[in-house]
Amino acid sequence: MDNNNITILKIGGSVITDKSADDGTARLSEIERIAAEISGFEGKLIIVHGAGSFGHPQVKRFGLTGKFDHEGSIITHMSVRKLNTMVVETLNSAGINALPVHPMACAISSNSRIKSMFREQIEEMLANGFVPVLHGDMVMDTDLGTSVLSGDQIVPYLAIQMKASRIGIGSAEEGVLDDKGGVIPLINNENFDEIKAYLSGSANTDVTGGMLGKVLELLELSEQSNSTSYIFNAGNTGNISDFLSGKNIGTAIGAGTI
Ligand SMILES: Nc1ncnc2c1ncn2[C@@H]1O[C@H](COP(=O)(O)OP(=O)(O)OP(=O)(O)O)[C@@H](O)[C@H]1O
Ligand SMILES: [Mg+2]
Repeated sequence: MDNNNITILKIGGSVITDKSADDGTARLSEIERIAAEISGFEGKLIIVHGAGSFGHPQVKRFGLTGKFDHEGSIITHMSVRKLNTMVVETLNSAGINALPVHPMACAISSNSRIKSMFREQIEEMLANGFVPVLHGDMVMDTDLGTSVLSGDQIVPYLAIQMKASRIGIGSAEEGVLDDKGGVIPLINNENFDEIKAYLSGSANTDVTGGMLGKVLELLELSEQSNSTSYIFNAGNTGNISDFLSGKNIGTAIGAGTI
């Protein structure tokens, strides 16, 4: 993979929202802490945040993974947008030149997989010192009308298209855990079959596959681009700044080492 010096960081909805809530409940103090950790970073950065309780319960309520629904699509989009506004405002308050990029307005899927995304604005934002902030969203879908687009799918898509050099997914666990709660240091094609047994969805409502969904997306990324990404706990103070300063933490997916 070309070294383009672009970092992509996903901040899990499990960290910035209360995911056990059945409607959007933000954790503002966590968003503020994370913004402070990001504020020292000087490289090119794309942020993607998850939907947490601003998206998953709404998708479930309207049954949007199984059927098309105007009202549900609108309510879910407007809800994740609200969370995105909070994140972008908090990042700006911490001195980061963050701008919102809503997937609903620039991405299109077919059968729930991204078909294309207009990325020129993201490229120009990065070239001009802005930090684009995308999020899990409802998007138009050529097969399904609308579909759920997970932040976990946006990360590898952009990593490939933008030739990112560093990829991190911050969630609410220390990494990918084994049956004894220990962090699995490295997942690749060789040990995935063994590790699969430990992987499941989410303890809370998650319509995009929880930890299993994340690992599958990142394994595919490593196959397609030979890159390594890291799943770590963004709920622990210092982990995001450690990741941004080049430390490899949590579980590596792909060829890298801890
Ligand atoms: N082997 C595993 N190791 C770690 N977490 C696991 C494992 N298997 C399942 N999980 C669950 O996956 C959850 C993380 O996925 P989840 O989708 O809830 O978070 P997120 O992706 O950060 O949130 P969002 O989708 O809102 O961005 C963990 O909190 C845990 O409940
Ligand atoms: Mg998730």
